Amino acid sequence: MRKLITALLLAVAPSLVLAAGGGIQLDQANVDVSNKESIQRGAKTFVNYCLSCHSAAYMRYNRLGADAGMTDQQLKDNLIFTRNKKGEQTKVGELMKVAMTEDYAKEAFGTKIPDLTVIARSRGADWLYTYLRTFYVDTKRPTGHNNKAFPDVGMPNVLWELQGVQEAEIRVDDKGTKHVESLKITQAGTQSVAEFDQTVNDLVTYLVYMGEPMQLERKTIGLWTLGFLFIFFILAYMLKKEYWKDVH
Ligand code: HEC
Repeated sequence: MRKLITALLLAVAPSLVLAAGGGIQLDQANVDVSNKESIQRGAKTFVNYCLSCHSAAYMRYNRLGADAGMTDQQLKDNLIFTRNKKGEQTKVGELMKVAMTEDYAKEAFGTKIPDLTVIARSRGADWLYTYLRTFYVDTKRPTGHNNKAFPDVGMPNVLWELQGVQEAEIRVDDKGTKHVESLKITQAGTQSVAEFDQTVNDLVTYLVYMGEPMQLERKTIGLWTLGFLFIFFILAYMLKKEYWKDVH
């Protein structure tokens, strides 16, 4: 029995280590990837505000359509704004790519712009939720903004019209490191704080879904597998009893 417990502990240990992340206090996202409306709203924000710079080059539009319950026509009308070289609208079976080249991005932003297909897996939902809501005015930065979760980030504050103008109270410690003490909206955007939190939460839900479109099916298959193993265990146990009955 003790061996079994040790083996179980060893099996979960790596996930405990991964879960411990350093740095700032993160706000908690409330992600539910089975909520299709949330994924649809998030996808819409994504194509409108992010896809101009970031690609999602491993994601096809029609896979999203199938998972979030959208027809090809709905995809064409609501989500596909990019065009191919001939000037035709990108097809539903194509990948979410951007027109911007890597060289141009380097020149304009001084850095490579990461693909976002699996960003939720490397950064985690809470980090993304915090990052996208904590841009604040910083006139010393080339973009005019800085970020609490990603200090001196090269990305402009693309959602500012929705969120409004946010300013930070900064404390500098003995070592000269800056700490964002608090953030405050000083000029309202087109959305209230609650609405903006919801918008970002939907966007993060979309990013989490996109990081692993299979996850819903995977969970269902997992439950069936556990159910099968359970029934199989009972059968095996009964068989064992039957075999050993005459030995004792
Ligand atoms: C105008 C171009 C532009 C737009 C639009 C844009 N970004 Fe960015 N983004 C950047 C750049 C440039 C970086 C790299 C920043 C750096 O490394 O300093 C970045 C970095 C990021 C990162 C951090 C990646 C990492 O290194 O872990 C995330 C997450 C991100 N963007 C998400 C988004 C989302 C979500 C949207 C849409 C709401 C968006 N971005 C819109 C330019 C853009």
